[in-house]
Amino acid sequence: MAAEEEGLTGPGGTTPAPGPGAGREQGREQDREPCPEARSEPRSVPELMLGRPPMTRPLPGFDTEAAPAEPGPLFVDWLATALDSGVLDPQVFTLSTVDADGLPDARVLVLRDVDAAGTGWVFSAAADSPKGRQLADHPAAALTVYWPQLGRQVRVRGTVERAADQVAAAEFATRSPAARIGALVGRQSEPLASPAEYEEAVTVARRRLEATPDAVAAGHAVYTLWAHEVEFWQGDAERHHVRLRYTRTGPVRTPEWSRTLLWP
Ligand SMILES: Cc1cc2nc3c(=O)[nH]c(=O)nc-3n(C[C@H](O)[C@H](O)[C@H](O)COP(=O)(O)O)c2cc1C
Repeated sequence: MAAEEEGLTGPGGTTPAPGPGAGREQGREQDREPCPEARSEPRSVPELMLGRPPMTRPLPGFDTEAAPAEPGPLFVDWLATALDSGVLDPQVFTLSTVDADGLPDARVLVLRDVDAAGTGWVFSAAADSPKGRQLADHPAAALTVYWPQLGRQVRVRGTVERAADQVAAAEFATRSPAARIGALVGRQSEPLASPAEYEEAVTVARRRLEATPDAVAAGHAVYTLWAHEVEFWQGDAERHHVRLRYTRTGPVRTPEWSRTLLWP
């Protein structure tokens, strides 16, 4: 729902400033200013956030009594509701890892799959990227999604296992040419000297893929986060948030789950 529809107002009771896409339909390419933020007057974060409490909109309930015995079916149900509710990119989640110094790191990735029980959460990444190295050194992670339209958060914690190279190669083949070219370019998160250097590498990778359509990026890896805990969090405008945590008690292949309500 748009902020205007909710009656939310911007700083000082004014209507919110137009977003980066405002006026897009009227503007020709050459009329557009490159950076909408640059023409705004300087404002502080508290000013920008004033009068915009999160989740002040009708939100669904969460009947924990009816929750299934395992987290998998509930996640699928919530994901389907997110899609039906117009949540953009609901399969995008934050993956949190820790580096060699114990410093947390986080970034968003695409969720590829979740097994029926909700034990194995699958994603792919470059093994030679910072996150890949962090997972090799410390194979544990947290996965978090938030779906604003529904005020719903899902939190998963567990250990991470890298799949066999054949699994990664098979997954790589399912990706779009653009995604494969990007992965073949490699060197993710290394310093880049110039955009031209990157374009050159893309051209080389594209030619490689044309010549060898089944080429697989070195280090392309599929990971499974084996959940120890999965929490479902339903927000509420009055702060009566409802939280249900599943804790795995059995092994990953034959999991059993206990369920616990949590104070908001
Ligand atoms: C919507 C979105 C989806 C993304 N999906 C992926 C992904 O599936 N795999 C990936 O490696 N990076 C993905 N990224 C980029 C990562 O957030 C991150 O910038 C990159 O993986 C480098 O992370 P690292 O330096 O911690 O290894 C995505 C970014 C966004 C904004």
